[in-house]
Amino acid sequence: MADRAPARARILGTGSCVPDNVVTNFDLAKRVDTSDEWIQERTGIRERRIALPGVRTSELCEDAARRALAAAGVEPAELDLVVVATATPDMPFPSTACFLQERLGIRGQMAFDVTAACTGFLYGLTIADQFVSTGKARRALVIGAELLSRIIDWEDRGTCVLFGDGAGAVVLGPSEAQDRGILATRMAADGSFWSILNLPGGGTAHPTTLETVGAGLHKVKMHGNEVFKVAVRSLHEMAEAVLAEAGLDGRDLSLFIPHQANRRIIDAVSKRLGVPVDKVYVNVDRFGNTSSASIPIALDEVVRAGRLSPGDTVLLDAFGGGVTYGAALLRW
Ligand code: ACO
Repeated sequence: MADRAPARARILGTGSCVPDNVVTNFDLAKRVDTSDEWIQERTGIRERRIALPGVRTSELCEDAARRALAAAGVEPAELDLVVVATATPDMPFPSTACFLQERLGIRGQMAFDVTAACTGFLYGLTIADQFVSTGKARRALVIGAELLSRIIDWEDRGTCVLFGDGAGAVVLGPSEAQDRGILATRMAADGSFWSILNLPGGGTAHPTTLETVGAGLHKVKMHGNEVFKVAVRSLHEMAEAVLAEAGLDGRDLSLFIPHQANRRIIDAVSKRLGVPVDKVYVNVDRFGNTSSASIPIALDEVVRAGRLSPGDTVLLDAFGGGVTYGAALLRW
């Protein structure tokens, strides 16, 4: 691993990948007792991408990673660090990051997964930032990737309408200019809220048996109302923390990219922060909640649409099961 002079870390390239298969609210209304109107009104979601059987999380990672590497002009072999944030790994172990390494045809660098649910990508970004900004790594790949369709209870209308599959990636490297790059990050967790959002089966608490599978313990469980309230409060708190660290407020932002869980959560947090509607990026209508992939997919869309210019200030803000929450402030 490299060991060079400290510098601010900057995103050198972004990439993303979503399955081609589109599942609309009308499709879901044929499976469970719901409607397009209910889903749109309560969540803002119109459709989501769902991978076909046989696809693995590491495949989505590879597509997103190759696009991010190409955008950054970085070869896979140049990577010093590979971090994959996922709640839906290929297997409990080895890590999906190791599977990705093999797919990219690289070896030797540190590679591991981060488990922080929907906040996973920002946790991964924060970890990679430490390595790059201290000179311990020169090129780092951070990915958020999920196949949530594999762990959703497709009979539960309260959860199955919310989620989608996808992956997003960034390549980090030292910034040439000290005023560009990752300005501030703040990550947090509160394990006392573990029960409002979890997947109880398959771990040491409930090892896989015919009974645990029969009882549906291998599917996501959620208390939506509770999650909603804690999410709005935590997203607001983290955003305020990183803005304050940089001496800014919501009106100074060029773009706000919140975790894409629910349109109403996004609106509530944006309002509390005082961010104008046209500065808030939303794609939850097209992809649903892709958990750790939501922010890097959104960032990649923004970058490819040419919406960011050097010097723009961008706020990333996430919340997820654990509960975990965090924000990152970037100067593009
Ligand atoms: N279609 C129709 N009716 C439904 C559906 C559905 N898909 N889902 C639930 N309902 C019904 C409920 O059964 C309930 O009926 P009842 O009154 O007869 O019992 C009624 O709608 C109201 O249910 P609530 O759960 O109170 O509805 P709410 O307005 O809270 O919306 C929702 C539910 C959309 C899940 C909301 O709570 C939410 O978005 N919470 C945040 C959850 C989230 O985003 N989780 C993602 C993971 S964490 C993260 O990424 C932030």
